[in-house]
Amino acid sequence: MTITFTVQPADRLPDPEREQLLAAPAFGEVFSDHMISIQWSLQNGWHEAQLAPYGPLLLDPATQVFHYGQEIFEGLKAYRRPDGAVVTFRPFAHAERFNRSCERMAMPPLPEAAFVEALELLVATDRAWVPEQPGYSLYLRPFMIATQRTLGFYGPSNAYRFMVIASPAGAYFQAGAKPLTVWLSEDYTRAAPGGTGAAKCGGNYAGTLVAQAQAQQQGCDQVVWLDAAERRWVDEMGTSNLFFVYGSRLVTPELSGTLLPGVTRDSVLALAAELGYTAEEGRIGVADWRADAESGRLTEVFSCGTSSMITSVGHVRSKDGDWTVGGGRPGPVTSRLREELTGIQSGERPDPFGWVHKIA
Ligand code: COI
Repeated sequence: MTITFTVQPADRLPDPEREQLLAAPAFGEVFSDHMISIQWSLQNGWHEAQLAPYGPLLLDPATQVFHYGQEIFEGLKAYRRPDGAVVTFRPFAHAERFNRSCERMAMPPLPEAAFVEALELLVATDRAWVPEQPGYSLYLRPFMIATQRTLGFYGPSNAYRFMVIASPAGAYFQAGAKPLTVWLSEDYTRAAPGGTGAAKCGGNYAGTLVAQAQAQQQGCDQVVWLDAAERRWVDEMGTSNLFFVYGSRLVTPELSGTLLPGVTRDSVLALAAELGYTAEEGRIGVADWRADAESGRLTEVFSCGTSSMITSVGHVRSKDGDWTVGGGRPGPVTSRLREELTGIQSGERPDPFGWVHKIA
């Protein structure tokens, strides 16, 4: 499907103001000049594709998404390279995952080509918003909401709106490169078999806030989620996936249906194998995490996600006690993977996987 966008240009923010905002952006606080919107209806399918000035939406208070939460989103980044080129990272992988979320949430899929075209148009138009500093990027947030005006809950909405907004971003975790301290959530779970854990829907995030607050009360940066049935197996951390490093062998929790299939997770699996590590999906028991960290067999743990990239996890806190991984310091495998992956994104390293997508 090729889609024709009407273009309504914005009054752009003057250069000096934009440059000031780009100098040290926090995560997700400022937005570029434009946004993308495409409507879907039962009668017309996808239509009314627009690039328009960034701004508030006017929605009826009875719009379905406000009441029943039929909403999904994605997150990916555009990078500016030293030669001035602007690239996005694995946009087709994000398009695919977006459509898997659509399927789970009974929403109409958006053709992958249209998803990527929308990203390209927004990034090309707001190219000046892609920061130059190493480690910074323009975070892209595609999302879709159910827009039928009804309080009836008889089935999926008969209308949707797909949108993309863009926000210049620095480091996600305030702690910077410091290893994270995580809290094992035993009172709350994030997802159960058959639920929506593998979909990137807003409700999955809303349901975790109370546990995240508990983690912070315990002096921790993030929550670690365990499986809902036995509270024994590690699923994921906060909004990221986890990797466990045993010397040169890496293990990440398998995609059981309750955790998000992270694009960074998938990239780390491929990259680790390419770099000569053994990279596997498997089950990680909490008891083994602790025993192996204490014996030294487990050498590093790191989290990975689009917004937070690769971040080392140094300390674990739980109701049954605390333990430290790898002396609480970032380990060499974590650092190497982070360097290699950011190198592919910035163009300092070759991209043997074809992950990088150049914006014309
Ligand atoms: C991402 O890593 O892109 C996410 O979607 C996490 C979000 C909570 C910032």
